Amino acid sequence: MKVLFVASECAPFVKTGGLADVIGAVPKTLAGMGVSVRVMLPAYPALAEIAASGEAVLELDDLHGGPARLIAASAAGLDLLLLDAPHLFDRPGNIYLDMDGIDWADNALRFGALAQVGARVALEGAGGWRPDVVNAHDWQAGLIPAYLHQAREGGAADVPASVMTIHNIAFQGLVDAGLMGALNLSPALYTSEGAEYYGHLGMLKAGVAFADRITTVSPTYAREILTPEFGMGLEGILGARRGVLSGILNGIDTEVWDPAADAALAAPYSAADPGGKAANRAALAKRFDLRADTDGPLFCVVSRLTGQKGLDLLLDALPALVARGGRLALLGSGDRDMEAAFVGAAHRHAGSVGVIVGYDETLSHMMQGGADAILIPSRFEPCGLTQLYGLRYGTVPVVARTGGLADTVIDANDAALEAGCATGVQFAPVTAPALAQAIERTCDLYADRPAWEAIVANGMAHPVGWDRAAREYLTLYEDACA
Ligand code: ADP
Ligand code: GLC
Repeated sequence: MKVLFVASECAPFVKTGGLADVIGAVPKTLAGMGVSVRVMLPAYPALAEIAASGEAVLELDDLHGGPARLIAASAAGLDLLLLDAPHLFDRPGNIYLDMDGIDWADNALRFGALAQVGARVALEGAGGWRPDVVNAHDWQAGLIPAYLHQAREGGAADVPASVMTIHNIAFQGLVDAGLMGALNLSPALYTSEGAEYYGHLGMLKAGVAFADRITTVSPTYAREILTPEFGMGLEGILGARRGVLSGILNGIDTEVWDPAADAALAAPYSAADPGGKAANRAALAKRFDLRADTDGPLFCVVSRLTGQKGLDLLLDALPALVARGGRLALLGSGDRDMEAAFVGAAHRHAGSVGVIVGYDETLSHMMQGGADAILIPSRFEPCGLTQLYGLRYGTVPVVARTGGLADTVIDANDAALEAGCATGVQFAPVTAPALAQAIERTCDLYADRPAWEAIVANGMAHPVGWDRAAREYLTLYEDACA
């Protein structure tokens, strides 16, 4: 089986969120199962050195305004196909946003080009390799199923199967429908059952409409996106295609995230030998200028600061957290108003609340290592990875009961405590009072040492690797090819 992954980010090279973690990890697990996987990405500046070490397998004279090459290279255990098109991707800063924090005006062409070349590799191969299946991830690769459908309709034989994976339906790649011609898309695709979305070309919608299989990253989210509350306008087409829609729960890279061998930690620890947690807690408290004279839990947040993540609710619930002797260390960036609000809260609750605005991979490991609990009050969450890192690091997840959070955390209610299977705290509805209550419940559990230690141990024993999901992807690919 040969599979082409196409995506806009991939850890450890370029990352703005969990998509990158997934793209950096699944191909390695699939490769270990004998699958031949190539990961196609834009050759952003962060990949320039790796691209320079590779070999061109495709040359294009003009890809939307400049020459381009596809370069095969290997790095970080991945076989990469890098789309080197400097006029599209050789730009400083964020991969999606310009210096003013606004989407690059030509994002439709930048990622349309990625999808076009991805489809070309699928149809013609590159460097003597041609996939049986293309797995397109999120809107940036959403046009690939449309191109493959168009090729089939045009009579092409032996067209590879396509799988569209939705990591986040909130980002849909809605662009001017007038670009369809430039993107080499037939007008026949522009229908309400196809690529049209309320007068725009919907890149994610095109993927959903034309893919042979659709997946998202948890079973609960696969059900939720069929409803108007979570479907963000795509619930209709998803409902029509529910027969090919499934949820495959994300895992995490258990080598990159391993408290027994994590260079970012002050002290290593494991389920068998959890003693090191105390040194990591002390180091984290110091880093965030938090007081040492309290018996309450040290909560952390590692997150993009956006409406999705529900952290505005945490601002309202902070007095409850502080009143119970809890402390909070927050690392995040995004919405400027929310950044400012958390910095203000840190001043008001000096010693109890510490905030670092920014994006810091190493610090995110320190936080999972040092905190007692991690707060994730998301309004919607396709899967979420930080609760999985929390489980692995003995950092109890306190989560909204939605999407992948609902699928990965077992609430410490009386029955689960009795049965010895609780791994965290869930709350619903996703409101500030319910979050405050969940925080208080967490503080109560923390004070009950045997109960807390059992929750931590259950979480650390919970399987969070990629093996199961990779097997599910492989079965899906085989099914799509059949
Ligand atoms: P999403 O992809 O919606 O942002 P996930 O939980 O799937 O949510 O993945 C987020 C990823 O980004 C995790 O690996 C998390 O540790 C990381 N992350 C988020 N914010 C930060 C930050 N400010 N600094 C470092 N890592 C962050
Ligand atoms: C998205 C989602 C997140 C998911 C990640 C990886 O960014 O918001 O829930 O874990 O993709 O699939």
